[in-house]
Amino acid sequence: MIQDFEPEATRRSAGDAESSRASRGWWDRNADEYQTEHGAFLGDDRFVWGPEGLDEAEAGLLGPASLLKGADVLEIGAGAAQCSRWLAAQGARPVALDLSHRQLQHALRIGGGIPLVEADAGSLPFRDESFDLACSAYGAVPFVADPVKVFREVRRVLRPGGRWVFSVTHPLRWAFPDEPGPEGLSVSASYFDRTPYVEQDERGRAVYVEHHRTIGDRVRDVVAGGFRLIDLVEPEWPAWNSQEWGGWSPLRGNLIPGTAVFVCVRDE
Ligand SMILES: C[S@@+](CC[C@H](N)C(=O)[O-])C[C@H]1O[C@@H](n2cnc3c(N)ncnc32)[C@H](O)[C@@H]1O
Repeated sequence: MIQDFEPEATRRSAGDAESSRASRGWWDRNADEYQTEHGAFLGDDRFVWGPEGLDEAEAGLLGPASLLKGADVLEIGAGAAQCSRWLAAQGARPVALDLSHRQLQHALRIGGGIPLVEADAGSLPFRDESFDLACSAYGAVPFVADPVKVFREVRRVLRPGGRWVFSVTHPLRWAFPDEPGPEGLSVSASYFDRTPYVEQDERGRAVYVEHHRTIGDRVRDVVAGGFRLIDLVEPEWPAWNSQEWGGWSPLRGNLIPGTAVFVCVRDE
């Protein structure tokens, strides 16, 4: 879809409904370009946690592979459902949920028979205790104004003992320009400034929103959502990965973290 205006980048507050509306529109307009640009790196049926290329097949953050067999898994912000396809290949029963119709059309295009659900992560259309596991690779969490609302929903649909594992942009990145080159190595903003990054149209309506939380905020949000945090993984940039992804690059990746993966459990 062609955008007939140049959005203005700013920092201002953006609530739940506005953020959600902006995300749906942005991902619908940009899904084709996103899949063209990143589809090969993601692979149709790999589970990659972020631009570093950390692969669930090696990381095992969802738990032992033997437990995936027969497990009901909810993938949130699934995009083209690449991770769900990998989960299905391990014998799991994934459901891929996303806000964006166009992203889910890419999931259909790639195929694999994964059940797809178009819905907002803040209001999950499932019964209580429907899933053994929930996961999200950069889906939804960085874009929502109220992550605790999402976490409470995830907890509700998980069975006791279930894991919730999600990756987001590493909070430290907020303090640096989102540039892959040397200009992305100098602090330019306060890490403590939680004002969202907003791109808005000529009438001031948000067309893209990203929300910043510090590491401490994220830990508190996880706990407020009813989870116990059992690991916080900061993938290091591997020698084999020479690919840039937006502001993520080998140059920066060798110096500062780019992704944070939170491994959480619903105890009871
Ligand atoms: C960076 S993409 C990640 C997709 C996929 N995990 C991947 O690695 O390609 C973020 C995805 O989150 C989805 N998303 C954003 N906000 C959402 C929300 N509130 N509820 C559900 N999905 C959301 C977007 O539509 C998009 O497909």
